[in-house]
Amino acid sequence: MRTVAIIPAAGSSTRIGGDVPKQFMKFNDRELIAYTLEVFQNSPLVDEIIVATSGTGHEIISEIRKRENLTKLTKIVEGGKERQDSVYNALKEADLAVDDLAAVHDAARALLPAEVLAKAVTEAKEKGSALVCMKARDTIGYLEFTGLDYIDRSKVYIVQTPQIFRYGELMDAFNKAYAAGWYGTDESSLMRRAGYPVHISEGSALNFKVTTKEDLQIFSKLIPDGLPF
Ligand code: CTP
Ligand code: MG
Repeated sequence: MRTVAIIPAAGSSTRIGGDVPKQFMKFNDRELIAYTLEVFQNSPLVDEIIVATSGTGHEIISEIRKRENLTKLTKIVEGGKERQDSVYNALKEADLAVDDLAAVHDAARALLPAEVLAKAVTEAKEKGSALVCMKARDTIGYLEFTGLDYIDRSKVYIVQTPQIFRYGELMDAFNKAYAAGWYGTDESSLMRRAGYPVHISEGSALNFKVTTKEDLQIFSKLIPDGLPF
């Protein structure tokens, strides 16, 4: 059973803004995505890496592949309008058997701990899927007309990536979503929609998605000699 990492990296970071998409911003002379790719390159459980990107991203990723000797990075494919389109483009280019595993991981989650990845892949091999999630730690409120109301925290999960599924089932879920014109923000929502069970695997606060300027500060403080923001 092979495991291929699918890394969507075709976003334009509208919430951060600026000229350079967050995945290509440099920290210690290394692009943020170089940190992400390193985790998959170094995992003995990952066989191959496919990145979806666009524009100058193609050259940047090729450069990183050469510079950091990313021997597992086999394909750099064109991204799409939405994250879902980017992942679908990469899945279509993946040369996988139906029972092989596709591990989709956001380029913007650059500090995925190696043990979270290892546990998720191992569990996906056993259980058929692995959705990396973190249990909510704070009290969770939602706004009603009368003011804040609260939900049972023990039932709240922060959904992260990697999201690991059997290739055949994931392609079926994607094909069904496209047939209905349905878009989701992650793979697990497509899998649930298609009626597949999704096994939850333990995530980490370190596996946060760099989404805002504040996240760039957090990231830079977590890496050795990170840039002072
Ligand atoms: N992504 C992608 N293709 C898109 C949109 C997003 O491959 N059309 C990728 C991003 O590059 C990122 C991941 O999906 O690694 C998670 O998306 P997000 O954090 O939302 O990044 P952006 O879409 O770039 O940011 P924003 O939503 O603020 O514009
Ligand atoms: Mg986005």
